[in-house]
Amino acid sequence: MRTQVGIVGAGPAGLTLARLLELAGIETVVLEDRTREYVEHRIRAGVLEQGTVELLREAGVAGRLDREGIVHGGIHLQFEGERHHVPLAELTGGRAIVIYGQTEVVKDLIAARLESGLPLLFETPVESVDAEAGVIRHAGGEIECDVIAGCDGFHGVCRPSIPPGVLRTFERDYPFGWLGILAAVEPSIDELVYAHHPRGFALLSLRSPELSRYYVQCDPADDAADWPDDRVWAELRERTALDGWSLEEGPVLEKGVTGMRSFVAEPMQYGRLYLAGDAAHIVPPTGAKGLNLAVADARTLAEALVDRYAGDGRALDGYSDACLRRVWRAEHFSYWMTSMLHRNGDDPFEQRLQLSQLRYVTVSEAAATSLAENYVGLTTMG
Ligand code: APR
Ligand code: PHB
Repeated sequence: MRTQVGIVGAGPAGLTLARLLELAGIETVVLEDRTREYVEHRIRAGVLEQGTVELLREAGVAGRLDREGIVHGGIHLQFEGERHHVPLAELTGGRAIVIYGQTEVVKDLIAARLESGLPLLFETPVESVDAEAGVIRHAGGEIECDVIAGCDGFHGVCRPSIPPGVLRTFERDYPFGWLGILAAVEPSIDELVYAHHPRGFALLSLRSPELSRYYVQCDPADDAADWPDDRVWAELRERTALDGWSLEEGPVLEKGVTGMRSFVAEPMQYGRLYLAGDAAHIVPPTGAKGLNLAVADARTLAEALVDRYAGDGRALDGYSDACLRRVWRAEHFSYWMTSMLHRNGDDPFEQRLQLSQLRYVTVSEAAATSLAENYVGLTTMG
């Protein structure tokens, strides 16, 4: 079998790339390890930058997103018992974020792909790829490709197929995790609340008018069984407490622990292989950047491939450099938000620095604007 672009992985990176290439008339095959059911039910993040929304619109897959997505013009930062509004849109010339689950983005992209009748092979784990020859191997055979897009996430096979010595990797582990719940209750907040608290970080988010998505900082070694519902609600209540406001509780539909890590592999390309999304980089979730970075890589790669098939390979050669500028900005922002908001041991010096930084962001328009333009993805770095 032969194709122009073989895409390994049907997460947001692989599916967005497949859709953009379809619209450009470039042939693709998408191979995915898991079942459709599994991929469509993984609960992931849910904040889309305006640029991500615009791209999905241009790709013709934003019908439901435009109907069901919830536009937010700001976020709240809470510390020392005060809740401060950061007016993202006001500070960035009207850029907003949209609350819409990554899971829903994935469902919409899969539906579009299947409607176009194009190959999307579920339960087809790729066993290995040959980055130099452009060959993808799976149990059912081989696919020869002009280009392979490694969109197979952090634990995939594409990045490890690059010979030793080519990649340089950068990594940071954090000594905390997030315990997340999805609860069947109307969100108690109008916009996201990021809360700093002596007991640890908490985040109030949402998925819809009936579904709340809440997180508390926990030990990364905890598992969901360490966190009965009562304990989760008690910690959420305490860490987000505010005079005159209360947190509504409801049935917990989903519960899980997420680790926190920063990771970048450079360069994001080798031979005929181009890495996109989590296969090349990971950010801790505090900046809400993971999905947006994956989609941005897909856009950069799709545009470079269009040029390449038109006879100009320069953008494809420069793919990694173009992505890494944006990736490192998001890495710094995610690391900064994470460091500012989480309890890290008992060091009182660090705690005072965090509180000073939080207050600075809420009293200085310049500091707030810096947070805002990073949060909404409005930087000049790609
Ligand atoms: N063969 C085929 N598919 C594979 C293989 C393999 N050997 N290994 C992994 N996959 C699939 C996974 O099952 C998954 O569906 O690749 C897909 C990768 O998707 P994601 O992990 O969602 O990664 P990406 O598309 O880069 O999206 C990044 O997802 O993890 C979140 O926070 C992250 O929001 C960010 C987004
Ligand atoms: C989410 O809604 O799941 C969410 C929101 C903001 C984040 C991370 C996750 O920073």
